[in-house]
Amino acid sequence: MGGVLRGFKMAEEQDLRLELLDIVRSLKTYVRAYPHACGNIHAADRPEVRGSAKSFPTAAEKEAVAARDRSLTLEAVRADMGDCQRCHLGKMRTNLVFGEGNPHAELVFVGEAPGGDEDRQGRPFVGRAGQLLTKIIAAMGLTRQDVYICNILKCRPPGNRNPEPHEIAACEPFLVRQLEAINPRVICALGAFAAKTLLKTDVPITLLRGKYHDYHEIKLMPTYHPAYLLRNPGAKKQVWEDVQVIMKDLGLNNKNGPDM
Ligand code: URA
Repeated sequence: MGGVLRGFKMAEEQDLRLELLDIVRSLKTYVRAYPHACGNIHAADRPEVRGSAKSFPTAAEKEAVAARDRSLTLEAVRADMGDCQRCHLGKMRTNLVFGEGNPHAELVFVGEAPGGDEDRQGRPFVGRAGQLLTKIIAAMGLTRQDVYICNILKCRPPGNRNPEPHEIAACEPFLVRQLEAINPRVICALGAFAAKTLLKTDVPITLLRGKYHDYHEIKLMPTYHPAYLLRNPGAKKQVWEDVQVIMKDLGLNNKNGPDM
């Protein structure tokens, strides 16, 4: 009986956590859309400012907000990357793989790094693992154009080895800006590497997966990498469980069930 009650309590806490994350996200969206209004509310509350003209943003403040908004687009992030040579992978790549999909996606998939096919085509997840990801997305009732797909690294590490810390340090700021620009409701981290890098943790993917984590007030669901599923098809069941949590949250359903 104690176990059942504990189960209910945990489910309640999880629901509350998700609700709070949604509220914080809505507030962030509002503050972003109406920065002056929010600035004024704060300013007007301060006694020294109350009733004075200072509650209106100055031209410099307005320009600072506009400059920030201009930098928060995927085009601006891509332009800032340019012909990136910030780490030695720049010299080895055929194409930089920035990411693709809906710039206003509610759901973003983040993988590890481009492989050979991606490097050749300049597009994320287009090889065998990518085809499986496309199936997972279809099983959610979505298309690749509905979501956004990108990686921790934008350039292929030689021989598909794991990314190195200095490569992540050079590349991750662009991913952070991409995620800020898209401002999705949910991020799905594909595989141990993406999950651990985004969450700054060493906890194994087997323990991380299946529940939401907080990534700067965005819900993050870690799950197994499609390449792992190609080697271990038995794990598709767990991935389907994980994406169903996301589907419930985003109000998606696929009456046909998974075909992956
Ligand atoms: N694996 C990844 O992590 N990303 C890709 O884009 C392709 C394969």
